[in-house]
Amino acid sequence: MSASKTDKLKTQRLEELQAELKRHDELYYRLAQPGISDQLYDQKKRELEELEAEIDPLGLFSKSSEHSNNAQPPVVGDDRLESFSSHRHLKPMLSLDNTYDEEEFIEFDQRLRRIFETEKLSYVVEPKIDGVAISLTYKNGKLVTATTRGNGVEGDVVTQNLEHLEHLPHQLSGSSLPELIEIRGEIYMSHQEFERINSEREKNELSLYANPRNLAAGTIKLLDPKEARKRKLEIVLYGLGACTPENHFSNLSEFHQALSHWGVPAVEYFRQVDHADDAWKSIQELDQLRHSYGYPTDGAVIKLNSFALQAEAGHTSKSPRWAIAYKFETERQETILEAIHLQVGRTGAITPVAHLSPVQLAGTQVSRASLHNADEISRKDIRVGDHVIVEKAGEIIPQVVEVVLAKRPANSSPFTFPTICPVCKTKLERVDGEAAWKCPNPLCSEQVKGRVRYFASRGCMDIDHLGEAVVDQLVDRKMVRQTSDLFSLSKEQFLQLDGFAEKSAENLVQAIQKSKQQELWRLICALGIKHVGSAAAKDLARNFRSLPNLAKAELIDLVAIDGIGEIMAQSVVEFFKNSENQSMLEKFAQYGLSPELEIDESTGTPWTGKSFVLTGSLTSMTREEAGSRIESLGGKSTSSVSKRTSCLVAGPGAGSKLDKAKKLGVHVIDEPAFLALLESPKSL
Ligand code: IVH
Repeated sequence: MSASKTDKLKTQRLEELQAELKRHDELYYRLAQPGISDQLYDQKKRELEELEAEIDPLGLFSKSSEHSNNAQPPVVGDDRLESFSSHRHLKPMLSLDNTYDEEEFIEFDQRLRRIFETEKLSYVVEPKIDGVAISLTYKNGKLVTATTRGNGVEGDVVTQNLEHLEHLPHQLSGSSLPELIEIRGEIYMSHQEFERINSEREKNELSLYANPRNLAAGTIKLLDPKEARKRKLEIVLYGLGACTPENHFSNLSEFHQALSHWGVPAVEYFRQVDHADDAWKSIQELDQLRHSYGYPTDGAVIKLNSFALQAEAGHTSKSPRWAIAYKFETERQETILEAIHLQVGRTGAITPVAHLSPVQLAGTQVSRASLHNADEISRKDIRVGDHVIVEKAGEIIPQVVEVVLAKRPANSSPFTFPTICPVCKTKLERVDGEAAWKCPNPLCSEQVKGRVRYFASRGCMDIDHLGEAVVDQLVDRKMVRQTSDLFSLSKEQFLQLDGFAEKSAENLVQAIQKSKQQELWRLICALGIKHVGSAAAKDLARNFRSLPNLAKAELIDLVAIDGIGEIMAQSVVEFFKNSENQSMLEKFAQYGLSPELEIDESTGTPWTGKSFVLTGSLTSMTREEAGSRIESLGGKSTSSVSKRTSCLVAGPGAGSKLDKAKKLGVHVIDEPAFLALLESPKSL
């Protein structure tokens, strides 16, 4: 191949990887729904870095060089959402470099020893908790705000969703308190709580959460703190951000002791060692101990103990040079792949599922594993009859990670991915930019069953007695072709099904009819619009107040709503454009299923239903405090200005938000006027 052709291919691969990682960053940080395992992500990231180094050795055009200027945000993903107000970290929140073997850990120590021209360095070793990074700001010992990492420079204020945490210290007590301190740590969910929530969902036939980390991330970003309170989150703190006075602590051991002294939950494993060899021993000890911890850990973090040396070592655009994460190997087992079955989801997405010879893995018996999609099967050349390695990387669903080629049966042949739907035999299609094949037939019985089950589930219309076996019979006997058909079913029709008697048939008819009284958001959620979960459904219900209104909404109306991004808005518009869905909505109305959201203006406070945006600096309180005051009075404090904003409170330094508010004709007030409103909201 000519050199220019090779270069072109490399550039192509580089662009492909950049786009892929960007999509995965979005899924992981913003949607808390990772598309791939951490290990695979790291593998792709390394491939990208190697390609970048090859193509652009001086880093002149690469993304990382764009960020090498300290004024730019660090390269750490971005978890910020429109619906939260933001807070600027006094010191940036970085990420960590990962290592997977001893050699890389030794290189890390050697690099540092070269910088400091010394024989040995003092490190601390701690568990790497698999949760969500958080920064707590304390002024004179009082908690001011809890902020996510965001883009590393500025994060989302999530205090309201964490206030109830049993171990979150609202007030630090004890001696030697700094005037101002940012304490960094992790919000996580215990295995026990994760299992409690998932088993409840299983009972209600809802999809299961993938792992505790994603569930913790999703909970922190719930728009309704009351919902967040229903899931038990925990907190652990281990790091120091900004501190006044600056030299309050000289090393991490001292800081760790202070945390315990102030009543702050600190990591339960903390070792100070004076040599890299001992750090390595500690890492191995931790790998044994962590199995007894009640929360997920995915590695050890090794940090220079001295803050002075940390400052001298500095950091790259992504991570400090004074710390590294050593990722533990996830448990793996070998077994035989007996068959590959295709599963059809309610959206038509086809998921290949591996059926395995049962094997014990991380405490449970595993007989099925995810194969993700067709590309994954052909990339790894996974064949029926192969010996395969399965892994459970903190995920509920095990993954097939590789094939043991040495044990491949001589007569095996590559897996040919079916071209037709295993259920309705329609030719499968592939959506541009997506890895999954789809059954394009919305009438495919498996899709209909999935949609009906979802519609009736606890989190949606909550229809009692409409279990999986009943739905299967209704769809198989063509008594239900679309969800709206449920409302036309009579007692006599249920009596034709297996397992029904007078009373049970009557109960089910009643339960279906009763669901017509459900709130509008439940119906919106039950429609199963891609990307629209219960939180978004509540936002849509609040803003449009009836299904016909929502059906008429245009993209521009939808994106103006806090919490509704472009992808979600697009999906809503497409859903209502579909003629099959339009006919279903008509039937809903005919059967008397037409909930409306009535806002009773006579109840609540003058602040109810009003949304405020705060911008610029305030002198009498912080923006977070002002936001909390508004919310405690019944109003809403959001971060972006739209035509639905009731009022913009603009302090000195207000910029683009003020311009936008003026353009949209949003009412703008200054701080004194805002204080007057707090005193007497008559003019609201
Ligand atoms: S120290 C400058 N210590 O891992 C970053 N991080 O993958 C210093 N994490 O963003 C972080 N346990 O959210 C540190 N004991 C620990 C940790 C820990 C979990 C998280 C943290 C960080 C991420 C990097």
